[in-house]
Amino acid sequence: MAIQKVGVAGCGLMGSGIAQTAAQAGFTVVVREVSDDLLKKGLATIEKNLNRLVEKGSLGAPDRDRVMGRVKGTTEIEELADCDIVIEAIVEQLQPKIEFFAQLDRLCPKTAIFASNTSSLSITELSAATRRPDRFLGLHFFNPVPVMKLVEVVRTIATDSAAYEETVAFAGKLGKTPVRTGDRTGFIVNRLLVPYLLDAIRVLQDGLASTVDIDNSMKLGCGYPMGPLTLLDFVGLDTTYYIANVMFDEFREPRFAPPALLKRMVLAGWHGRKSGRGFYDYADPKNPKPVPLTF
Ligand code: 3HC
Repeated sequence: MAIQKVGVAGCGLMGSGIAQTAAQAGFTVVVREVSDDLLKKGLATIEKNLNRLVEKGSLGAPDRDRVMGRVKGTTEIEELADCDIVIEAIVEQLQPKIEFFAQLDRLCPKTAIFASNTSSLSITELSAATRRPDRFLGLHFFNPVPVMKLVEVVRTIATDSAAYEETVAFAGKLGKTPVRTGDRTGFIVNRLLVPYLLDAIRVLQDGLASTVDIDNSMKLGCGYPMGPLTLLDFVGLDTTYYIANVMFDEFREPRFAPPALLKRMVLAGWHGRKSGRGFYDYADPKNPKPVPLTF
């Protein structure tokens, strides 16, 4: 059975990007948020992104309208019941995800595939909340979703091979490059990326170099599109702190332990670009200034 109708749970940063990507690839999409306000905000993000493409001339106005017409927003979980695949991108916490999947499981036919966009939680643990661990897997997208070409397709010891291959093929139809990985916290990308980001904070914390020089080193010395401290602000310091703690809990290796400075910044409410301040100050978002750290 080929996937035709795509459900997305959550229309935040990741969910709106996934819904947009699926609609642009020609799929019929139902995206569900928990409140009208959040739904409106998420749909407006999709519209804004598509308008930007129209302004740049890479999408025609009629195509934008067709893409938008393929996205149906709802606050009713029942509207996801006839989707061939449902991709969950709700809040990154275990209990709300478990409750969501348990409820969805009662609504959807046995044939539907369930996927989580979690970056750190165990896919196996989430799948155990349903009666379909064989049709349950991870689909981990990257921020910004419409731009980043990778999707990690995560299988557990219980995932059925046919369902897995069908989802790998689906990720390809989204215009992404799928990579295959097993269910270990952080999968491939965060397993490699998170220790690197935490090390960049340790370099700053140790007084070895300044924020700008650390970023320039990796940007100009290694060709990374963003330096590590800019990337941390982009991903969110709270998100990285959460992921690092989950990874440390799984592997018990010091390289995954969040540095004290990261914890202090999160406790101070410095969550990066979204809060207006992290390693940089975003008072003027087009011209971020490094925050002088006194510690
Ligand atoms: N939504 C949609 N499109 C966006 C966008 C957004 N939020 N931000 C940028 N774009 C588009 C632009 O429109 C532009 O499109 P074009 O090439 O068709 O003109 C293109 O991306 C490039 O954007 P800009 O020219 O404005 O800026 P840059 O060249 O600096 O690129 C970037 C921006 C793509 C974000 C680039 O800096 C980059 O690749 N950064 C690294 C991002 C990264 O590492 N992401 C992974 C984070 S880890 C993660 O998500 C995992 C999680 O579990 C933590």
